[in-house]
Amino acid sequence: MLALSDIHESPIQTIRHPVLEKHALTLHVKRDDLLHPVIQGNKWRKLKYNLQHLQQSGLKELVTFGGAFSNHLYATSMACKIFAIKGHLIVRGPELDPHNPTLKMASACGLTLHPVSRLEYKKRHQADYLQALQTRFKHAFIIPEGGTNILALKGVEELASTLPASDYVMTAVGSGGTLAGLVAGTPEHTQVLGIAVLKGAQYLEQEVGNLLPDNTTKPWQILHNFHHGGYAKTTPELLSFCTQMKKRYALPLEPVYTGKLFFAIFALAEQGYFENGSVITAIHTGGLQGLDGLRYMQKNIA
Ligand SMILES: Cc1ncc(COP(=O)(O)O)c(C=O)c1O
Repeated sequence: MLALSDIHESPIQTIRHPVLEKHALTLHVKRDDLLHPVIQGNKWRKLKYNLQHLQQSGLKELVTFGGAFSNHLYATSMACKIFAIKGHLIVRGPELDPHNPTLKMASACGLTLHPVSRLEYKKRHQADYLQALQTRFKHAFIIPEGGTNILALKGVEELASTLPASDYVMTAVGSGGTLAGLVAGTPEHTQVLGIAVLKGAQYLEQEVGNLLPDNTTKPWQILHNFHHGGYAKTTPELLSFCTQMKKRYALPLEPVYTGKLFFAIFALAEQGYFENGSVITAIHTGGLQGLDGLRYMQKNIA
């Protein structure tokens, strides 16, 4: 069995490109996709201290939530297997497709799948629902959907502490948990910029604000114009960009999160958004297994 400390810090890659050179920009990539073949990126950062808490509390079971293609469920399943935790997944149903790659992987890792109706799934944040689950799974630690809670932020803050000195730290934004952890963990002068992958997600500013202390004065911002049509939507331009980045820099991207992040970085650099001479550190938040889900849904992925 592995220990949590067996997952070691990820490397940093520096990208050279004429657009960056034109503006004297340095682009570092924190390769959190290389943390582990499956428990990678922000999923590991969010899980690490949750799993540590579970182990230190003497528990051996967890319950968590997600949709059938969730990166969080995928990573949690492998984490349960390698750290010998009995896992229960409350999956948004009502029915489960036995061929879905995420669910196949969860079953192969020995997790128990509990499909629930969309109506029941909506209750996942309600105190009385969570209490009933805790009664049902007495010896389990309950981790919220996407893994975002206070322990997750601690893991992302730890990631922030490993980054090189930067003018900008950039990440893709889904729920905002990763962005909040980065804001909490980066030095005062660093701008934390998030790229929203959902369309019309202006509520995120509030959500991130709720995760941060009231007196936060650190500069952060979410850019809402790089969603390419919405969550998991792609454009030929975005897909071809992802292919090029893999070919030229051996930087594998998927179009749901990291593809949109890097596409935005190059578009912003081209527009002269970053002050000349800036150092940008982009977080590769992993999620590469999401490509299996996209292939399964037959989105034209190479
Ligand atoms: C690969 C990847 N990157 C980024 C994110 C966004 O993280 P957050 O939900 O903390 O904003 C997610 C969320 O699921 C993800 O799977």
